[in-house]
Parts: sequence; C-alpha cells; structure tokens
Amino acid sequence: TGAIVAHAPGKLFVAGEYAVVSPGEPSVLIAVDRYLTVSLTESVDAGSIHSPEYSRMPVRWTRGQDGLTLDREHHPYDYVIAAIEACERLRAERGLRPRFFDLYIESGLDDPSGRKFGLGSSAAVTVATIAAIDEFYGFELGTRGRYELAMLATIAVAPHASGGDVAASTYGGWIGYRSPDRDRLRAARTQHGVADVLGSEAWDGAEIIRLTPPSGLDLLVGWTGHPASTERLVNGVSRGTNVTGDAHTGFLEASRECVSDLWRALAGRGADAAGHAVSDDDLALDAIRRNRRLLQGLGARTGVTIETDRLRILCDAAEAIGAAGKPSGAGGGDCGIVLAPADADVAGMLRVWETNDIRHLTIGVHPPEGEH
Ligand code: PMV
Repeated sequence: TGAIVAHAPGKLFVAGEYAVVSPGEPSVLIAVDRYLTVSLTESVDAGSIHSPEYSRMPVRWTRGQDGLTLDREHHPYDYVIAAIEACERLRAERGLRPRFFDLYIESGLDDPSGRKFGLGSSAAVTVATIAAIDEFYGFELGTRGRYELAMLATIAVAPHASGGDVAASTYGGWIGYRSPDRDRLRAARTQHGVADVLGSEAWDGAEIIRLTPPSGLDLLVGWTGHPASTERLVNGVSRGTNVTGDAHTGFLEASRECVSDLWRALAGRGADAAGHAVSDDDLALDAIRRNRRLLQGLGARTGVTIETDRLRILCDAAEAIGAAGKPSGAGGGDCGIVLAPADADVAGMLRVWETNDIRHLTIGVHPPEGEH
C-alpha cells in the first residue's frame, strides 16, 4: 500500500489573542497557504517518527501496558506523540485491530534556515498527524471530529492553549473562534474516554464559524525575524493578570467588543454602536487598531513585552498609511498582520519595513475546507 499524505495549513491570529484563552471569548484567525506535511506508511512491529528538522532524533514507538512506549524522551515530538496517543485511544475504544506506522514530517512553516515564523507549526503537525491516522484507520472523523481530536491532543501538551490555531488549520479560510473549557474536556476524557467525548456536551461554548474575507482590504504579513515563545508570554500575562483582576475583566470586555465588531464587518453587517451603517472595511480597520491598543495595555499592565520595538514599527508604518496593523498571536516577536485599503501606499509601508529588517512574507489564505 502507498503512503497516506496529509497537509495542514499554518495560521495567523487576526484578533482576540489572550482573551480567547478564556473559554467563550471570541477571536478571528485565518489559515495560510503554507503547509506542514505528514506522510504515513504502514510498518510491521514498531512505529517511528522522522523529520528533517530532527533528523538526528528519529523516535521509535511500540505499545506498552499504559499506551505508547518510546525509545527516548518525547521532547521534539510532543504534539506528534500526543496526536498518536489520542488516535490510539480512539482505535482501542472502537475495537479496531492495532497496526503500526512510520510518520515523515516536513514543515513549510519555517524560514529556510529553520527559524520558525510563528505560523502555528505545533497545531499544523497535530492536525496533519490526526488527518493521516484518521485515513489510515478509517475513523471517518470529519472536519469537526478532526478538530476535536486534535484539540484533545493539544491540551495534553499545552493545557491552556485556546486551540484557535487547531481550528484554523482544520477548517481553513477566515474563521471566528471561541474556545471550549479545557478543564472540562480533560476531565471528560479521563472519565469517559476519547470516543465518548467527541461530539459531547463537554464542547459546549466552543464555536467555529466561517467568516467572509474583507472585500476591499489586502492582507499583508511582516516577520520580525525573532521567534517568540507563546508559552512563556501566556504564562507571564497570566501571572500578571492574577494581580490585576479587575483590569483583566475590562480587557476581556473590550476585546469581546472589538472582535464582535470584526465578526460583524466580516459577515457584511457593518454598523456602529448606535446602529448606523458603517462601511465594513472601516469597521474592520477600526477593530484591528483598537485590538492593538488593548494588547499594548495588557502588556503594560502585566509587564510582558507583547509589542516589541520591531512590532511597533511594523504596526505604526501600517497606521501611517491608513491601514491597520497588530501583532499576530502572542507577540514578543514572530509576525504582525496588516489589513490595508486598496488605495493605501503599501509600497511606502514596505520601505519602512525593509529599512527596519522586517521581512514581508508573501502569504495568502488557504481556502476553507470543502472549497478547494
Ligand atoms: O503565538 P501564537 O500565534 O501561538 O498565538 C497565541 C495566542 C494566544 O491567545 C496568546 C494564546 C492562545 O492559546 O490562544
């Protein structure tokens, strides 16, 4: 039998970062047209994981008493192992005969020298691994099922992750996303197993909706050249917000308002707070600018550098031409995104980026699942 090949797109956050970590808070993401690929071939008496990035560390796995047994530390393959483990549980619960397979991972989400752009490689490797194993065993998970299984794998590695990146990588296109309650999911998985959690009420509050790309705005992406650690930033912000409880409630409310405006703009129903019609593009630009300010405030209150100097230059250059820019994701480096009106002086902005070592990444949107 030939190899099963699964591609999963990377992602960018557009709005709602940090707030979306709280269950039920809205965010906006896009899937991008850069991909991570997992190829699967059946093997005989053990499985293995390979990737050029970690070529000196192939991992072999077998089945032990309590699940997978590895021939070395998990580390570089945490998400891959968690994805295999989640699939193993489902396979066993469905009474399917165990088989082994080798996985080959290739990421197109990094710079040629191997530095991460911050385009969601962890989510993409989780989603692609699950897609490949789904096909291998014939689980027939469907899009929602793949998101849910990838999400269970993700929170086994990163307990507080919102999973917005998982949703974007699974669904494609522009999406609106609210996270499920991960504590509840973990408890449900332990209590009932994987099969019974899929599609259950443990996902209440999670929402993934398709949004329409803004018609009059162009998306541009700038890369700071500095990889950032989402985990470190999120932990820093959460330590800080424990001290400033009230301010954080205010942040969540204000973020909810920005993102709701953006959802409305992207659904083609632009209106201001008083209900007067506003151009969808203007509403979207305003929402992005306000979200940027909110994240600046969050960083200042918690002592975490979300908007680094280079991200500030990137975003200021966008605002100077009548566009809107903000850090994408946790900030601290990685990428910034810009939405620019068609008549804006984008060339002028790109010159400022170039002078400041901000690389313009030519990135488009990966189409929604089912529309390829
Ligand atoms: O840095 P990224 O692109 O992985 O995004 C992190 C976004 C946060 O909201 C800060 C965390 C999360 O899990 O959603």
